Amino acid sequence: MKHDILITAKAHKGTFERLVQEFSAVTLFDAADRAATLKAAAPRVRGLAHTGHLHVDAALMDALPKLEIISNFGVGVDQIDLAAAKQRGILVTNTAGVLNECVADCAMALVLNTLRKIPQSNAHLRAGLWLKGGYPLTTSLGGKTLGILGLGRIGEAIAKRAQAFGMVIRYHNRNPKNVPFAYDPDAVTLAKNSDVLMVITPGGAETDKLVNAQVLDALGPQGYLINVARGSVVDELVLLRYLQQNKIAGAGLDVFEHEPKVPPEFLTLDNVVLTPHIASATLETRKAMGDLQVENLHLHFAGQPVKTPVAPVI
Ligand code: NAP
Ligand code: 8YV
Repeated sequence: MKHDILITAKAHKGTFERLVQEFSAVTLFDAADRAATLKAAAPRVRGLAHTGHLHVDAALMDALPKLEIISNFGVGVDQIDLAAAKQRGILVTNTAGVLNECVADCAMALVLNTLRKIPQSNAHLRAGLWLKGGYPLTTSLGGKTLGILGLGRIGEAIAKRAQAFGMVIRYHNRNPKNVPFAYDPDAVTLAKNSDVLMVITPGGAETDKLVNAQVLDALGPQGYLINVARGSVVDELVLLRYLQQNKIAGAGLDVFEHEPKVPPEFLTLDNVVLTPHIASATLETRKAMGDLQVENLHLHFAGQPVKTPVAPVI
């Protein structure tokens, strides 16, 4: 028997194909009349396969009275109203763990590209400018302090890599951990003590604009910011101003406040490296994420514990 699910977005082709084959699936993302599609599916749908920026809010949950599980493709669940899910007894799962290494690789790639200006020097060569003179000197990683804001699963994988590059690690979380790294009590102190500030907290209300002018002032004109968390964690317009005025040395950004829209002013700056939210975007990792999303749905419908439940909000 195939269980009834609703697919809100089509992110990964292979996963979408599995969802459609292994479940009785209704798709919302291509519905001509979204309200009518929801209404028709409502009496049957017990699972939601979700990904991306669409908000899974109380209204959507209320439109699906039989909903038992929201299985998210992605570890970040800031777009899902966890309090509303808890109130309605709806289980939320994510794809925690399987993307740590891949996201950490990308985070380090941004550190390297931002400090060593690889895209900019590549552009210099391609424009024929090498013939007129060498590319200006850049900044070494070795011996620099990497401050990790959000030393969780991915943060620890980043720390491991950064140590191999000779970087010194510090961190800030709400709760100190049993790790061999110096702890700072807040984001401002961490920024003050860091050459490179790596942002890898969850998104959502609690971290909204956590990296603000005060944090960037503490990072200072020699400091670099890397954001692989969520655009919401950094005050994007303040960051833009700080980059334009060289009040920080540079930034590497994989995430933005209003994706896929990026403020055009960023595109004109030489001290920023931009990627389109690709930190987990490899064939291998996206397959692993999709397999976990599907497995969580199957486990739930089989009455078994899911692999990666998201802790309900208190
Ligand atoms: P995780 O294991 O839950 O780690 C999150 C860390 O952030 C924890 O150590 C947590 O520690 C800390 N934290 C939470 N709220 C905080 C706050 N208000 N202030 C300071 N620290 C805080 O999560 P993860 O698996 O590493 O993933 C982290 C996030 O990365 C995801 O939620 C997602 O938004 C983002 N991400 C982005 C991409 C991408 O493609 N760019 C890919 C994957 C994930 P405490 O609880 O002690 O504060
Ligand atoms: C994905 C992510 O790009 O896991 C996350 O939280 O941000 C990324 O891995 C996203 O979830 C897929 O839409």
